[in-house]
Amino acid sequence: MIQLKKVTMVFGGTTAVNALDLSVEKGELCVLIGPSGCGKSTTLKMINRMIIPTEGKIFIDGHDNMAGKPELLRRSIGYVIQSIGLFPHMTVRDNIAVVPRLMKWDRDRVKKRVTELMELIDLDPVVYGEKYPHELSGGEAQRIGVARALAADPPILLMDEPFGAVDPLGRLLLQDEFLSIQRKLKKTVVFVTHDLDEAIRLADRIAIMKDGRIVQYDIPETILTSPANSFVRDFVGVDRSLKKLSRYDAAQVMREARSVDIETDKVSEHLIKLSEQGAAFVWATDARLQLKGWIDIKHPLFAADPLSGYSKIEVFNIAVQREDSLKLVLSKMLGQGIKNVPVVDKKGILQGEISLRDIEQVSES
Ligand SMILES: Nc1ncnc2c1ncn2[C@@H]1O[C@H](COP(=O)(O)OP(=O)(O)OP(=O)(O)O)[C@@H](O)[C@H]1O
Ligand SMILES: [Mg+2]
Repeated sequence: MIQLKKVTMVFGGTTAVNALDLSVEKGELCVLIGPSGCGKSTTLKMINRMIIPTEGKIFIDGHDNMAGKPELLRRSIGYVIQSIGLFPHMTVRDNIAVVPRLMKWDRDRVKKRVTELMELIDLDPVVYGEKYPHELSGGEAQRIGVARALAADPPILLMDEPFGAVDPLGRLLLQDEFLSIQRKLKKTVVFVTHDLDEAIRLADRIAIMKDGRIVQYDIPETILTSPANSFVRDFVGVDRSLKKLSRYDAAQVMREARSVDIETDKVSEHLIKLSEQGAAFVWATDARLQLKGWIDIKHPLFAADPLSGYSKIEVFNIAVQREDSLKLVLSKMLGQGIKNVPVVDKKGILQGEISLRDIEQVSES
Protein backbone atom coordinates (compact mmCIF):
# COMPACT_ATOMS: atom_id res chain seq x y z
CA MET A 1 0.00 0.00 0.00
CA ILE A 2 1.22 3.50 -0.87
CA GLN A 3 0.26 6.52 1.20
CA LEU A 4 1.13 10.15 0.60
CA LYS A 5 0.36 12.45 3.51
CA LYS A 6 0.26 16.20 2.95
CA VAL A 7 3.11 15.98 0.47
CA THR A 8 4.38 19.27 -0.96
CA MET A 9 7.16 19.86 -3.45
CA VAL A 10 8.41 23.34 -4.20
CA PHE A 11 10.99 23.92 -6.96
CA GLY A 12 12.40 27.44 -6.56
CA GLY A 13 9.25 29.50 -6.73
CA THR A 14 7.02 26.80 -8.27
CA THR A 15 4.79 24.65 -6.09
CA ALA A 16 4.65 21.48 -8.19
CA VAL A 17 2.72 19.42 -5.64
CA ASN A 18 0.61 21.02 -2.95
CA ALA A 19 -0.27 19.24 0.34
CA LEU A 20 -1.31 16.15 -1.60
CA ASP A 21 -2.99 13.20 0.14
CA LEU A 22 -3.27 9.96 -1.79
CA SER A 23 -3.57 6.34 -0.87
CA VAL A 24 -3.33 3.40 -3.22
CA GLU A 25 -4.38 0.00 -1.93
CA LYS A 26 -2.28 -3.11 -2.47
CA GLY A 27 -2.95 -4.65 -5.88
CA GLU A 28 -4.77 -1.55 -7.14
CA LEU A 29 -4.00 0.42 -10.26
CA CYS A 30 -4.26 4.16 -9.64
CA VAL A 31 -4.10 6.54 -12.61
CA LEU A 32 -2.92 10.13 -12.17
CA ILE A 33 -4.27 12.37 -14.89
CA GLY A 34 -4.47 16.12 -15.40
CA PRO A 35 -3.13 19.02 -17.47
CA SER A 36 0.56 19.39 -18.27
CA GLY A 37 2.52 20.72 -15.31
CA CYS A 38 -0.06 19.72 -12.67
CA GLY A 39 2.52 17.65 -10.76
CA LYS A 40 1.98 14.06 -11.96
CA SER A 41 5.60 13.14 -12.71
CA THR A 42 6.81 14.90 -9.58
CA THR A 43 4.37 12.83 -7.52
CA LEU A 44 5.67 9.58 -9.05
CA LYS A 45 9.29 10.53 -8.52
CA MET A 46 8.70 11.31 -4.86
CA ILE A 47 7.32 7.81 -4.31
CA ASN A 48 10.62 6.17 -5.29
CA ARG A 49 12.67 9.02 -3.79
CA MET A 50 14.09 10.37 -7.04
CA ILE A 51 12.71 13.66 -5.66
CA ILE A 52 12.59 14.40 -1.95
CA PRO A 53 9.49 16.34 -0.91
CA THR A 54 9.77 19.75 0.70
CA GLU A 55 7.10 18.70 3.20
CA GLY A 56 4.97 15.70 4.08
CA LYS A 57 5.58 11.97 4.28
CA ILE A 58 5.25 8.95 2.03
CA PHE A 59 4.67 5.45 3.40
CA ILE A 60 5.13 2.16 1.54
CA ASP A 61 3.44 -0.69 3.37
CA GLY A 62 3.47 1.50 6.45
CA HIS A 63 7.21 2.28 6.26
CA ASP A 64 8.47 5.82 5.73
CA ASN A 65 10.14 5.79 2.31
CA MET A 66 12.92 8.03 3.65
CA ALA A 67 14.08 5.31 6.07
CA GLY A 68 16.66 2.88 4.65
CA LYS A 69 18.75 3.05 1.50
CA PRO A 70 17.27 4.53 -1.68
CA GLU A 71 18.71 1.65 -3.80
CA LEU A 72 16.80 -0.90 -1.78
CA LEU A 73 13.61 1.11 -2.07
CA ARG A 74 14.00 1.39 -5.85
CA ARG A 75 14.53 -2.33 -6.28
CA SER A 76 11.11 -2.94 -4.79
CA ILE A 77 9.61 -0.44 -7.22
CA GLY A 78 9.62 -0.97 -10.99
CA TYR A 79 9.72 2.25 -12.98
CA VAL A 80 8.64 2.66 -16.60
CA ILE A 81 9.23 5.93 -18.39
CA GLN A 82 8.31 7.19 -21.81
CA SER A 83 10.76 6.43 -24.67
CA ILE A 84 14.06 7.10 -22.85
CA GLY A 85 13.75 3.78 -21.05
CA LEU A 86 16.04 1.26 -22.77
CA PHE A 87 19.86 1.28 -22.83
CA PRO A 88 20.71 1.62 -26.54
CA HIS A 89 23.92 -0.44 -26.51
CA MET A 90 22.43 -3.40 -24.69
CA THR A 91 20.40 -6.19 -26.26
CA VAL A 92 16.79 -6.73 -25.26
CA ARG A 93 17.88 -9.62 -23.00
CA ASP A 94 20.50 -7.52 -21.24
CA ASN A 95 18.09 -4.62 -20.85
CA ILE A 96 15.54 -6.81 -19.10
CA ALA A 97 18.25 -8.42 -16.95
CA VAL A 98 19.60 -5.16 -15.46
CA VAL A 99 17.95 -5.29 -12.04
CA PRO A 100 18.21 -9.08 -11.48
CA ARG A 101 21.96 -8.80 -12.21
CA LEU A 102 22.29 -5.88 -9.78
CA MET A 103 20.65 -8.16 -7.27
CA LYS A 104 23.31 -10.80 -8.02
CA TRP A 105 20.94 -13.50 -9.20
CA ASP A 106 22.83 -16.44 -10.71
CA ARG A 107 23.04 -16.68 -14.51
CA ASP A 108 20.53 -19.44 -14.95
CA ARG A 109 17.93 -17.71 -12.85
CA VAL A 110 18.39 -14.45 -14.80
CA LYS A 111 18.14 -16.29 -18.11
CA LYS A 112 15.01 -18.11 -17.07
CA ARG A 113 13.39 -14.93 -15.78
CA VAL A 114 14.12 -12.99 -19.00
CA THR A 115 12.62 -15.76 -21.13
CA GLU A 116 9.57 -15.93 -18.89
CA LEU A 117 9.02 -12.15 -19.11
CA MET A 118 9.40 -12.07 -22.89
CA GLU A 119 6.73 -14.73 -23.13
CA LEU A 120 4.53 -12.68 -20.81
CA ILE A 121 4.76 -9.63 -23.09
CA ASP A 122 4.29 -11.85 -26.15
CA LEU A 123 7.69 -11.25 -27.79
CA ASP A 124 9.47 -14.42 -28.88
CA PRO A 125 12.78 -14.58 -26.92
CA VAL A 126 14.53 -16.27 -29.86
CA VAL A 127 13.50 -13.58 -32.33
CA TYR A 128 13.82 -10.54 -30.07
CA GLY A 129 16.32 -11.48 -27.35
CA GLU A 130 19.46 -10.41 -29.22
CA LYS A 131 18.00 -7.32 -30.89
CA TYR A 132 19.04 -3.81 -29.93
CA PRO A 133 16.51 -1.09 -29.03
CA HIS A 134 16.89 0.71 -32.41
CA GLU A 135 15.71 -2.50 -34.11
CA LEU A 136 12.37 -2.40 -32.27
CA SER A 137 9.10 -0.65 -33.07
CA GLY A 138 7.88 1.92 -30.54
CA GLY A 139 5.32 -0.52 -29.17
CA GLU A 140 7.85 -3.35 -28.83
CA ALA A 141 10.27 -1.05 -27.02
CA GLN A 142 7.52 -0.07 -24.58
CA ARG A 143 6.73 -3.72 -23.89
CA ILE A 144 10.42 -4.38 -23.17
CA GLY A 145 10.31 -1.37 -20.83
CA VAL A 146 7.41 -3.00 -18.97
CA ALA A 147 9.23 -6.37 -18.86
CA ARG A 148 12.33 -4.68 -17.46
CA ALA A 149 10.33 -2.96 -14.74
CA LEU A 150 8.79 -6.33 -13.81
CA ALA A 151 12.10 -8.23 -13.90
CA ALA A 152 12.81 -8.47 -10.18
CA ASP A 153 9.11 -8.96 -9.46
CA PRO A 154 8.69 -5.71 -7.50
CA PRO A 155 5.37 -5.34 -5.69
CA ILE A 156 5.03 -1.74 -6.91
CA LEU A 157 5.15 -0.31 -10.44
CA LEU A 158 5.38 3.38 -11.29
CA MET A 159 4.57 4.13 -14.92
CA ASP A 160 4.97 7.62 -16.39
CA GLU A 161 3.09 7.86 -19.70
CA PRO A 162 4.48 4.47 -20.67
CA PHE A 163 2.49 4.20 -23.91
CA GLY A 164 2.55 7.89 -24.80
CA ALA A 165 4.89 7.55 -27.79
CA VAL A 166 2.94 4.79 -29.52
CA ASP A 167 0.39 5.28 -32.33
CA PRO A 168 -3.28 5.17 -31.24
CA LEU A 169 -4.08 1.60 -32.35
CA GLY A 170 -0.78 0.27 -30.98
CA ARG A 171 -1.57 2.00 -27.73
CA LEU A 172 -4.95 0.28 -27.42
CA LEU A 173 -3.23 -3.08 -27.97
CA LEU A 174 -0.57 -2.31 -25.35
CA GLN A 175 -3.22 -1.26 -22.85
CA ASP A 176 -5.15 -4.48 -23.31
CA GLU A 177 -1.99 -6.54 -23.03
CA PHE A 178 -0.86 -4.65 -19.94
CA LEU A 179 -4.29 -5.07 -18.37
CA SER A 180 -4.21 -8.82 -18.84
CA ILE A 181 -0.71 -8.91 -17.28
CA GLN A 182 -1.91 -6.76 -14.38
CA ARG A 183 -4.93 -9.00 -13.80
CA LYS A 184 -2.50 -11.91 -13.39
CA LEU A 185 0.22 -10.17 -11.36
CA LYS A 186 -1.86 -7.74 -9.28
CA LYS A 187 0.90 -5.19 -8.72
CA THR A 188 0.26 -1.95 -6.90
CA VAL A 189 0.53 0.51 -9.78
CA VAL A 190 0.64 4.28 -10.06
CA PHE A 191 0.20 5.14 -13.72
CA VAL A 192 0.45 8.62 -15.25
CA THR A 193 -1.28 9.48 -18.49
CA HIS A 194 -2.71 12.36 -20.54
CA ASP A 195 -5.21 10.07 -22.19
CA LEU A 196 -8.58 9.80 -20.45
CA ASP A 197 -9.62 6.72 -22.46
CA GLU A 198 -6.45 5.02 -21.26
CA ALA A 199 -7.25 6.01 -17.68
CA ILE A 200 -10.79 4.65 -17.96
CA ARG A 201 -9.57 1.41 -19.51
CA LEU A 202 -6.88 0.65 -16.96
CA ALA A 203 -7.71 2.30 -13.65
CA ASP A 204 -9.22 0.87 -10.52
CA ARG A 205 -9.23 4.48 -9.36
CA ILE A 206 -8.52 7.73 -11.16
CA ALA A 207 -7.00 10.77 -9.46
CA ILE A 208 -7.71 13.91 -11.45
CA MET A 209 -5.06 16.52 -10.64
CA LYS A 210 -4.90 20.26 -11.05
CA ASP A 211 -2.23 22.68 -9.77
CA GLY A 212 -0.50 20.11 -7.57
CA ARG A 213 -3.70 18.90 -5.91
CA ILE A 214 -6.21 16.11 -6.47
CA VAL A 215 -9.64 17.43 -7.44
CA GLN A 216 -11.39 14.05 -7.61
CA TYR A 217 -10.31 10.52 -6.68
CA ASP A 218 -12.84 7.89 -7.63
CA ILE A 219 -13.55 4.75 -9.63
CA PRO A 220 -13.84 5.45 -13.38
CA GLU A 221 -17.62 4.91 -13.46
CA THR A 222 -18.12 7.63 -10.84
CA ILE A 223 -15.73 10.03 -12.61
CA LEU A 224 -17.84 9.60 -15.76
CA THR A 225 -21.26 9.77 -14.16
CA SER A 226 -20.67 12.24 -11.31
CA PRO A 227 -17.83 14.68 -12.01
CA ALA A 228 -17.04 16.51 -8.75
CA ASN A 229 -16.92 19.99 -10.29
CA SER A 230 -16.85 21.90 -13.55
CA PHE A 231 -13.11 21.30 -14.01
CA VAL A 232 -13.63 17.52 -14.00
CA ARG A 233 -16.76 17.81 -16.14
CA ASP A 234 -14.84 19.77 -18.77
CA PHE A 235 -11.91 17.41 -18.50
CA VAL A 236 -14.10 14.35 -19.02
CA GLY A 237 -15.74 16.05 -22.00
CA VAL A 238 -18.93 15.37 -23.86
CA ASP A 239 -18.50 11.90 -25.32
CA ARG A 240 -18.85 10.09 -22.01
CA SER A 241 -20.82 7.22 -23.50
CA LEU A 242 -18.00 6.43 -25.92
CA LYS A 243 -15.46 6.59 -23.12
CA LYS A 244 -17.47 3.98 -21.26
CA LEU A 245 -16.61 1.47 -24.00
CA SER A 246 -13.08 1.27 -22.63
CA ARG A 247 -14.42 -0.43 -19.49
CA TYR A 248 -15.71 -3.49 -21.36
CA ASP A 249 -13.84 -6.47 -22.76
CA ALA A 250 -14.91 -8.15 -25.99
CA ALA A 251 -15.64 -11.36 -24.08
CA GLN A 252 -18.21 -9.57 -21.90
CA VAL A 253 -20.25 -8.38 -24.87
CA MET A 254 -19.83 -11.02 -27.59
CA ARG A 255 -22.69 -13.23 -28.69
CA GLU A 256 -22.63 -16.72 -30.10
CA ALA A 257 -21.27 -16.68 -33.65
CA ARG A 258 -22.87 -18.64 -36.48
CA SER A 259 -20.19 -20.70 -38.17
CA VAL A 260 -19.68 -23.71 -40.42
CA ASP A 261 -16.83 -26.17 -40.65
CA ILE A 262 -15.67 -25.83 -44.27
CA GLU A 263 -13.72 -29.08 -44.10
CA THR A 264 -16.70 -31.41 -43.79
CA ASP A 265 -18.43 -32.74 -46.88
CA LYS A 266 -21.72 -31.59 -45.36
CA VAL A 267 -20.83 -27.92 -45.64
CA SER A 268 -23.24 -27.16 -48.50
CA GLU A 269 -26.10 -28.80 -46.64
CA HIS A 270 -25.35 -26.72 -43.53
CA LEU A 271 -25.17 -23.53 -45.55
CA ILE A 272 -28.50 -24.16 -47.23
CA LYS A 273 -30.09 -24.76 -43.83
CA LEU A 274 -28.63 -21.50 -42.49
CA SER A 275 -29.81 -19.67 -45.58
CA GLU A 276 -33.34 -20.96 -44.99
CA GLN A 277 -33.13 -19.66 -41.44
CA GLY A 278 -32.46 -16.19 -42.85
CA ALA A 279 -28.74 -15.84 -42.11
CA ALA A 280 -26.92 -13.30 -44.29
CA PHE A 281 -23.42 -14.56 -43.63
CA VAL A 282 -21.57 -17.10 -41.48
CA TRP A 283 -18.02 -17.47 -40.26
CA ALA A 284 -15.98 -20.27 -41.81
CA THR A 285 -13.78 -22.42 -39.61
CA ASP A 286 -11.90 -25.70 -39.82
CA ALA A 287 -12.90 -28.75 -37.80
CA ARG A 288 -11.13 -27.38 -34.70
CA LEU A 289 -13.11 -24.10 -34.91
CA GLN A 290 -10.05 -22.22 -36.11
CA LEU A 291 -11.37 -19.16 -37.95
CA LYS A 292 -10.57 -19.15 -41.68
CA GLY A 293 -12.92 -16.68 -43.31
CA TRP A 294 -16.56 -15.89 -43.87
CA ILE A 295 -19.27 -16.91 -46.30
CA ASP A 296 -21.74 -14.52 -47.90
CA ILE A 297 -24.97 -16.48 -48.00
CA LYS A 298 -26.64 -13.79 -50.11
CA HIS A 299 -24.08 -14.33 -52.89
CA PRO A 300 -25.76 -14.39 -56.36
CA LEU A 301 -24.26 -17.79 -57.18
CA PHE A 302 -25.30 -19.34 -53.85
CA ALA A 303 -27.91 -21.60 -55.46
CA ALA A 304 -25.34 -23.08 -57.86
CA ASP A 305 -22.64 -23.46 -55.22
CA PRO A 306 -23.25 -22.48 -51.58
CA LEU A 307 -19.50 -21.88 -51.17
CA SER A 308 -19.41 -19.17 -53.88
CA GLY A 309 -19.44 -16.41 -51.30
CA TYR A 310 -16.46 -17.75 -49.33
CA SER A 311 -13.70 -15.22 -48.58
CA LYS A 312 -10.56 -15.99 -46.66
CA ILE A 313 -9.48 -13.50 -44.03
CA GLU A 314 -6.24 -12.58 -42.30
CA VAL A 315 -7.59 -13.67 -38.95
CA PHE A 316 -5.53 -11.46 -36.66
CA ASN A 317 -6.16 -8.36 -38.80
CA ILE A 318 -9.93 -8.74 -38.73
CA ALA A 319 -10.70 -10.58 -35.50
CA VAL A 320 -10.41 -9.21 -31.99
CA GLN A 321 -9.39 -11.16 -28.93
CA ARG A 322 -11.45 -11.91 -25.85
CA GLU A 323 -9.56 -9.41 -23.68
CA ASP A 324 -9.62 -6.54 -26.17
CA SER A 325 -11.56 -3.45 -25.10
CA LEU A 326 -14.75 -2.43 -26.89
CA LYS A 327 -12.91 0.74 -27.80
CA LEU A 328 -10.45 -1.36 -29.79
CA VAL A 329 -13.29 -3.42 -31.26
CA LEU A 330 -14.97 -0.22 -32.47
CA SER A 331 -11.77 1.15 -33.94
CA LYS A 332 -11.24 -2.14 -35.84
CA MET A 333 -14.80 -1.98 -37.17
CA LEU A 334 -14.36 1.58 -38.34
CA GLY A 335 -10.86 0.94 -39.69
CA GLN A 336 -11.89 -2.15 -41.69
CA GLY A 337 -15.40 -0.99 -42.57
CA ILE A 338 -17.09 -4.09 -41.10
CA LYS A 339 -20.20 -4.23 -38.97
CA ASN A 340 -19.53 -7.63 -37.40
CA VAL A 341 -16.22 -8.67 -35.95
CA PRO A 342 -15.33 -12.18 -34.90
CA VAL A 343 -13.81 -12.75 -31.45
CA VAL A 344 -11.03 -15.34 -31.23
CA ASP A 345 -8.70 -16.65 -28.55
CA LYS A 346 -4.91 -16.45 -28.79
CA LYS A 347 -4.85 -19.51 -31.07
CA GLY A 348 -7.41 -18.07 -33.48
CA ILE A 349 -10.27 -20.30 -32.34
CA LEU A 350 -13.65 -18.63 -32.89
CA GLN A 351 -15.31 -17.58 -29.62
CA GLY A 352 -18.16 -15.33 -30.69
CA GLU A 353 -18.97 -12.15 -32.56
CA ILE A 354 -19.76 -8.51 -31.86
CA SER A 355 -21.86 -6.27 -34.07
CA LEU A 356 -21.99 -2.50 -34.28
CA ARG A 357 -25.48 -2.74 -32.77
CA ASP A 358 -24.04 -4.51 -29.68
CA ILE A 359 -21.60 -1.65 -29.21
CA GLU A 360 -24.36 0.93 -29.58
CA GLN A 361 -26.34 -0.86 -26.90
CA VAL A 362 -23.45 -0.72 -24.44
CA SER A 363 -22.80 2.96 -25.08
CA GLU A 364 -26.50 3.77 -24.64
CA SER A 365 -26.93 1.72 -21.46
N1 LIG B 1 13.40 19.79 -11.63
C1 LIG B 1 12.54 20.80 -11.69
N2 LIG B 1 12.95 22.07 -11.45
C2 LIG B 1 12.08 23.08 -11.48
N3 LIG B 1 10.75 22.96 -11.74
C3 LIG B 1 10.30 21.73 -11.98
C4 LIG B 1 11.16 20.58 -11.98
N4 LIG B 1 10.42 19.48 -12.25
C5 LIG B 1 9.16 19.93 -12.43
N5 LIG B 1 9.08 21.26 -12.27
C6 LIG B 1 7.86 22.08 -12.36
O1 LIG B 1 6.89 21.51 -11.51
C7 LIG B 1 5.60 21.51 -12.12
C8 LIG B 1 5.07 20.09 -12.19
O2 LIG B 1 5.89 19.32 -13.07
P1 LIG B 1 5.61 17.80 -13.42
O3 LIG B 1 6.74 17.32 -14.23
O4 LIG B 1 5.32 17.07 -12.15
O5 LIG B 1 4.28 17.95 -14.26
P2 LIG B 1 3.43 16.83 -15.02
O6 LIG B 1 2.07 16.86 -14.44
O7 LIG B 1 4.15 15.55 -15.03
O8 LIG B 1 3.36 17.46 -16.48
P3 LIG B 1 3.40 16.72 -17.93
O9 LIG B 1 2.01 16.21 -18.14
O10 LIG B 1 3.72 17.84 -18.87
O11 LIG B 1 4.45 15.65 -17.90
C9 LIG B 1 5.80 22.18 -13.48
O12 LIG B 1 5.42 23.53 -13.36
C10 LIG B 1 7.27 22.04 -13.74
O13 LIG B 1 7.73 23.10 -14.52
MG1 LIG C 1 5.10 14.41 -16.57
